[in-house]
Amino acid sequence: MKYVFGNWKMYLDFEESVILAQALVEESFNKEKNEVAIFPSTLAAREVIMCLNGSRIAAGAQDVAWVSKGAYTGAVSAHMFKSAGCKYALVGHSERRYVFNESDDDVRKKIEACLDAGLIPVVCVGETQEDLNENKREYRLKKQLMKAFEGLQINGGKVMVAYEPVWAIGSGKPCGPDEADSVHGWIKLEVKQYLGQDIPVLYGGSVNPENVVSYAARDVIDGVLVGGASTKLESFVKLINYV
Ligand code: PGA
Repeated sequence: MKYVFGNWKMYLDFEESVILAQALVEESFNKEKNEVAIFPSTLAAREVIMCLNGSRIAAGAQDVAWVSKGAYTGAVSAHMFKSAGCKYALVGHSERRYVFNESDDDVRKKIEACLDAGLIPVVCVGETQEDLNENKREYRLKKQLMKAFEGLQINGGKVMVAYEPVWAIGSGKPCGPDEADSVHGWIKLEVKQYLGQDIPVLYGGSVNPENVVSYAARDVIDGVLVGGASTKLESFVKLINYV
């Protein structure tokens, strides 16, 4: 079983999100084989979840607040996403880290909030081009993973990781499958140190229908987190079918 997750970011408005969700439900791709989930905008989440009802496609939040309720204008909590029907939540996506200045501490609090609420956090980690130039990939990933997982109480919940090199996101220049394979192996060993168990690790960054098989065919890569190519019916369906 592989995971195929579609992060719709801020690409689709309410109507476009609902139309795409409905169209996905009507597609006859083999949903039995894999776990497919979509991450719509917060505004469209509830309506999208209604469309997915009775299908095998799950939904997730793109981000969550780190507290469950209170005076936090503009924020939406993990508990609220859970009560609306979400199963997953992206946490620490690089656009949250680098555009909205979220720290490793913020990411940790959000992971804990997801686990408290019963959501499965998909913790995104990845090095920047600058890290890579300075030979700091392992340094960056180690820091992000340690902050995220050291001493974390999972209490029977589930967590996942998405390895998304920042330089590969939206650039059309994915991390090659051999390279991704070895980074995934390394991440799995790191995480096992903290959590004492194997968790799924997905690859993300310029995944498209043409290259998806080269990742999905690897044992150590448990699936893909797809941005741009998940926002169009044809490419997302192709991608799901190829995995
Ligand atoms: P991309 O985005 O597939 O458009 O590169 C991936 C992501 O940001 O999750």
